[in-house]
Amino acid sequence: MQFMSDKLKGNLWGGRFKGEADPGFAEFNRSFGFDKRLFEVDVRASIAHCGGLTAGGLLTPNESEEISSALTSILERGRSEAGYFDETSAEDVHSFVEAHLVEMIGDAGRKLHTGRSRNDQVATDLRLWLRGEIDRITNTLRATQQALLELAETGSGAVMPGYTHLHRAQTVLFAHWCLAYFEMLARDRERLADVRKRVNILPLGSAALAGTSYPIDREAVARAIGFAAVSGNSLDAVSDRDFCIEFAAAASLVMVHLSRLAEDIIIFATTEFGFIELSDAIATGSSLMPQKKNPDSMELVRGKAGRIFGNLAALLAIMKGLPLAYNKDMQEDKEALFDTVDTLKACLEVTGTVLANIRLNEERMRAAATQGYLNATELADYLARKGVPFRAGHETVGRIVMLAIERGVELNDLSLDELKSFSPLIGPDVFESLSLEQTLATKSQAGGTAPEQVAEALAKARAVLLNS
Ligand code: ARG
Repeated sequence: MQFMSDKLKGNLWGGRFKGEADPGFAEFNRSFGFDKRLFEVDVRASIAHCGGLTAGGLLTPNESEEISSALTSILERGRSEAGYFDETSAEDVHSFVEAHLVEMIGDAGRKLHTGRSRNDQVATDLRLWLRGEIDRITNTLRATQQALLELAETGSGAVMPGYTHLHRAQTVLFAHWCLAYFEMLARDRERLADVRKRVNILPLGSAALAGTSYPIDREAVARAIGFAAVSGNSLDAVSDRDFCIEFAAAASLVMVHLSRLAEDIIIFATTEFGFIELSDAIATGSSLMPQKKNPDSMELVRGKAGRIFGNLAALLAIMKGLPLAYNKDMQEDKEALFDTVDTLKACLEVTGTVLANIRLNEERMRAAATQGYLNATELADYLARKGVPFRAGHETVGRIVMLAIERGVELNDLSLDELKSFSPLIGPDVFESLSLEQTLATKSQAGGTAPEQVAEALAKARAVLLNS
């Protein structure tokens, strides 16, 4: 084991203190174990800050060069050297980087913290890190949409029952079901793009809480790391974690969608439904029951939704009632945020894999769609088209369904005379109306499940993916 120098212990104060921190408290106070994930962005933001100090005449060109090349080599070492993060007692990633810098170049390194506090530094790092993750998540969301679209296209001829209250309601195209989830994920992408706008603001230059007295060109620092604007109030900038909460809320909605998709898939894969089969690649067996094939992949996605909602609740609770400005409570934001990002990405990826590994049992789907009076509403609509007030037609069809149930037959198994006995307006054209094809075809307004509407929706979805 290599012993670390005192400098690498990374204590950032000293003058005011005579005693050593209690070791138990020092450990309790540390965040390096988890915030080392911010290492890369911390170095990038530090390089930008160095540029800001240089432009403000606060560093000589030599000092500036020394600091930025030392930071670059710290970055390289962090990327390539195994164990680089192991031997340190630094409190957090900011003190870790600074301690390495000072160890490498001495006094010039000590100048980097001019006009900066860890309070604006951590807020900057977190935003920079989250911005990158939002971009990655957006790509993964897009890939999941792509998987939904491909599944819709594979099963473009398939029909299935649509459900309300988990009871068969009306026939829909399987592609229509796929595209329902496509829409949800499209909204999720919009939401994330919106959150990203508020993430993409630079707090650096707010210093500890009051702003900085040094002539640092904040706009130039913002440009250097791609932020769209600088924060407008230093007190707010160092204590604002809305962007974390907004992100966790947007992530929670993604998880609501993924868990509903998971639930549908779990149900459709049961022996009772038998609409789909999950390939071996994404299912598991039972250690006891040899016949089992379990949808663990989707159950975990459903379960992990709870975990992300928990992170959102944690973030809200951490921030609630905090006085301005920075408080150490806010160090607790990181694990909730990191876990949200990791869990969300994993769930999106697995969901994409599941979608690519679904085999449809189109016969069973069609059979289910033709049993259980899914065409009853169509019959009421038929009567309405013949001038019967919908309420009255609804009542009549209810009685027809009752008869069919007593007989144990479907509506189209009843004879024309039997049907006519309920309403003289029923003619031989009723059988066409009761056909599965016709029940679909009539749903031809925008957003409906008629084949030509769904074909249009598929084309739109393809275009969405091409253009974004
Ligand atoms: N590790 C701290 C955090 O994550 C960094 C900021 C610390 N600032 C301070 N004044 N103690 O929030």
